[in-house]
Amino acid sequence: MPDASPLRWHLAHTTWFFETFLLKEILSSYEPWNPHFEVLFNSYYNSVGEQFPRANRGLLTRPSVQEIFEYRHKIDEIILQLIKTESLHHDALRILEIGLQHEQQHQELMLTDLKHMFSCNPLFPIYRTQKSVNQNWNSPERKWIAHEEGLYEIGARQREFCYDNELPRHRQFVESFSLSNRLVTNAEYLVFIEEGGYRRPEFWLSMGWQAVESQKWSSPLYWHQTDDGWSQFTLSGLRSIDGQEPVTHVSYFEADAYARWAGCRLPEEAEWEIAAEDSVDKYPELIVQGNYVESEKYHPQICSNEGAGSAYQQLFGDVWEWTRSQYSAYPGYHTPEGAIGEYNGKFMCNQFVLRGGSCATSASHIRSSYRNFFPPETRWQFSGIRLAK
Ligand code: AVJ
Ligand code: FE
Repeated sequence: MPDASPLRWHLAHTTWFFETFLLKEILSSYEPWNPHFEVLFNSYYNSVGEQFPRANRGLLTRPSVQEIFEYRHKIDEIILQLIKTESLHHDALRILEIGLQHEQQHQELMLTDLKHMFSCNPLFPIYRTQKSVNQNWNSPERKWIAHEEGLYEIGARQREFCYDNELPRHRQFVESFSLSNRLVTNAEYLVFIEEGGYRRPEFWLSMGWQAVESQKWSSPLYWHQTDDGWSQFTLSGLRSIDGQEPVTHVSYFEADAYARWAGCRLPEEAEWEIAAEDSVDKYPELIVQGNYVESEKYHPQICSNEGAGSAYQQLFGDVWEWTRSQYSAYPGYHTPEGAIGEYNGKFMCNQFVLRGGSCATSASHIRSSYRNFFPPETRWQFSGIRLAK
């Protein structure tokens, strides 16, 4: 799959990132560990140099995993030494932190990429047996949470780490809106399927309908129809669909078509952030209580209707929520100088923003202002749907 990379590539690339942006920058006599790695593990930084093509990364059976771990250990050792001797100053510490956040992003991609690879194997391999089975919970009734029109502020408040694309914090006028208290469930999405959602062009954007026809979409990615009904491939193997779980592995086009069929729409990213920031201000535990990679469930959970007292359920963790906002620069955005400027800014074309993190995200990685982004046909991330009106 052209968007996915082998695990060893992620391991090497995240080390290459520290080597390239930290060691080469601050140690004047630094010699690269292996000059070939500069090309092999450069993901997309044109100002650093040439890159091995992404879609062919699966062909790289060398360097071996062991050689890659040697590379990781060597670079880690040098960096730990620099930390211990307090040799890293302001700009270098900033790169070090970006490098750690970057590794968290790739940790999530390792799981989604592995899931895709396993899903192509008719044996449906198990990554981890399911840790705890969902209780026989019922997802709570849908409620609409109303927000007044007004001039709001969105963007990072910079009390903690943030990426450049979350800045600057700025004002935005928003008309009155309502968001659903919870995510769309599998049972709800099944009604859309059964009512011919994938065969009725009136619900679809033109590009979405083209994707349905050319890629023969008839259900979310990883769903299989068997004689016993619908199943879903998970990181714990093939399982029958639980109607109460949040729907996941839908593209922007499917999320948008579902919302139109339901007589609703997707949230704007500003609406999502206003709701999230307000909820976190009132219930600070809301973020840490989410279902992230640390729970080792590797799958979204049924809404437990707890949510730290907040009216909103599952804003953080479980599934990334598609917004209808194009990923673009906030007013006053400026691209960081140097190669690191290629990290986020150059992707601000033809992608949509997703919010809130997923069951594969690290707990310490997510916040109200966090902007993830993917092209609208993307389905292999843990992406789901929250409705808006
Ligand atoms: C923010 C998830 C779209 O996958 O390219 C990894 C994360 N940035 N290395 C991506 C990222 C640099 C990025 N996404
Ligand atoms: Fe990367």
